[in-house]
Amino acid sequence: MLKMESKPEGNAPQPHESRFYHNLVPAYQALWPAVARRRILSNLSALELAAEAKVLEVGVGTGMSLDAYPTNVDVLGVDLSESMLAEAEVLIQKNNWSHISVRPMNAEKLELEDEQFDLVTSFHTISVVSRPDEMMREMVRVCKPGGRIFVINHFRSENPLIAKVVDSAGGLTRRLGWRTDLEMTKLLDELPIEIESCHKDNPLSLFRVLVAKRV
Ligand SMILES: C[S@@+](CC[C@H](N)C(=O)[O-])C[C@H]1O[C@@H](n2cnc3c(N)ncnc32)[C@H](O)[C@@H]1O
Repeated sequence: MLKMESKPEGNAPQPHESRFYHNLVPAYQALWPAVARRRILSNLSALELAAEAKVLEVGVGTGMSLDAYPTNVDVLGVDLSESMLAEAEVLIQKNNWSHISVRPMNAEKLELEDEQFDLVTSFHTISVVSRPDEMMREMVRVCKPGGRIFVINHFRSENPLIAKVVDSAGGLTRRLGWRTDLEMTKLLDELPIEIESCHKDNPLSLFRVLVAKRV
């Protein structure tokens, strides 16, 4: 059920990145799922979620990850773009997913209480928001101690040669709405988390799959 009751504050900043996705929903819907959906589904289903676990997905977009969550957990998806959320809501209604709701919200300032989710996820979003460090801090803040943070994203390569090559495309990708220079270790530094695993699905993948425990 769509719970659109709480709009982001009227004067909250609207990062240009979200406007980008708002304007390009049709193209995004056609191209992106083929690239990313399989990665989300396989890695999410490997996490064994307890019945009635509370899950938050930040930057849920059109909801292509939503069928990976078991129906006995309670999922809230948030995103700044209401047009993306409208697509997610169509999916939710079509599938009668009463365990899932979506709400418009800024990832950098979650309107949610501390320490209430067993799992906080985010896919391909942290390099899109204006302030990734704020988003990460917020994800950790709302996660229960002992709960997990699960992120799939591109991060800057630790191989200086690869990093340099990818950096050279940074101007273009920033025009497309995402940055390529996000350094994972800097982003996670000093947060109250322990990294449980971090891998790529294959050596050529641009995306890292990160699981961390909130301490
Ligand atoms: C690349 S899309 C990823 C969407 C989805 N997670 C997926 O994998 O298909 C990035 C998403 O971040 C959202 N976004 C951008 N800035 C945001 C912000 N400040 N707060 C919440 N969502 C934001 C966009 O609206 C978009 O849905």
